[in-house]
Amino acid sequence: MAHLFEPFKMRDVSFRNRIAVSPMCQYSSTNGFANDWHLVHLASRAVGGAGLVLTEAAAVEPRGRITPQDLGIWSDAHIEGLAKTVALIHNFGAVAGIQLAHAGRKASTAKPSKGGKVLDESQDGWRSLISSSAIAFSKESPIPEALSLEGIQQIIQAFVEAAKRSLQAGFKVIEIHAAHGYLLHQFLSPLVNHRQDDYGGSLENRTRLLREIVEGVRKVWPETYPLLVRISATDWVDKGWDIEQSIDLSDKLKSLGVDMIDSSSGGIIPGINVPIKPGYQTQFAERIRREANIYTGAVGLITSPEQADQLIRTEATDIVLLGRELLRNPYWPHLAAKQLGHEKLWPVQYDRAWL
Ligand SMILES: Cc1cc2nc3c(=O)[nH]c(=O)nc-3n(C[C@H](O)[C@H](O)[C@H](O)COP(=O)(O)O)c2cc1C
Repeated sequence: MAHLFEPFKMRDVSFRNRIAVSPMCQYSSTNGFANDWHLVHLASRAVGGAGLVLTEAAAVEPRGRITPQDLGIWSDAHIEGLAKTVALIHNFGAVAGIQLAHAGRKASTAKPSKGGKVLDESQDGWRSLISSSAIAFSKESPIPEALSLEGIQQIIQAFVEAAKRSLQAGFKVIEIHAAHGYLLHQFLSPLVNHRQDDYGGSLENRTRLLREIVEGVRKVWPETYPLLVRISATDWVDKGWDIEQSIDLSDKLKSLGVDMIDSSSGGIIPGINVPIKPGYQTQFAERIRREANIYTGAVGLITSPEQADQLIRTEATDIVLLGRELLRNPYWPHLAAKQLGHEKLWPVQYDRAWL
């Protein structure tokens, strides 16, 4: 029976355990560049023992940043800083992955520590937002432009170019961000996508943009490397995107070369009541895994070693992604191994921690 510390392999990439650092914006970049913060923050989680270290959402276009301080990968100049971080993560035994993202109509907001409000040009923001349809996210948000067919092709190309740069930077995993109400989710969800062309209406049409991005990325991403997609398995809203559509999508994505669905939820419209409690989203990872027969990652209030181990042992998921718990404690994987009675994984330099 697999357990939390059982090594895991996808394609030709091996992970030392089933623990991943969930993507988390650091709001620390200038013009999208990775810097010392990203290096130390992400490499610390590799030293801490995670098997997979994912970067925060990296924007494939400048207008696709959630905040002006987001990480980016829209130009070749971004490669060098990312490459340094990747090399350190790999030196310390974890696999480095990057989350490729576009915020769509949820772009141009202040970072949470500055209140998270919509920014205009005078505040380093930008008003030229895009989405599937010309519907604003909130009363405060600008009305986005509904992407033209030509605009859609440019977005696909932006993801493909970002994937090529990710490879040059040395990443071994790409995760495409199609969750949390950002651009690709804005195409998936009928709550936002009111298009009447080939990219709106039926499930087939609403999933078309994501499928075309996956096809494009797969062509430039080595066959030996895994490709992940993060989705919101449900909008938590009647008549919205739901688990049945997620299972159907996951099945389609599998046939296009996606290896794992990272199963999160929510974010498409403001003011939704999400029943948050420990492991509140893991049921979705479990159903996608079983019904679409694809590897899954479970995320959301997974904080205790027993809880994480149990999710793997009961085959609810193949990996767990931890967010805030790994912010609080980068050494969580080592402590979890100790607590669960596994062989000591602690770095030799820290041996005396136990004396
Ligand atoms: C500070 C912060 C930044 C986040 N940024 C991202 C992000 O860039 N991409 C993403 O998919 N999710 C992001 N998330 C969501 C986390 O990846 C994770 O799904 C969520 O926090 C739930 O997991 P947790 O309960 O273990 O924290 C962020 C969460 C936090 C707390």
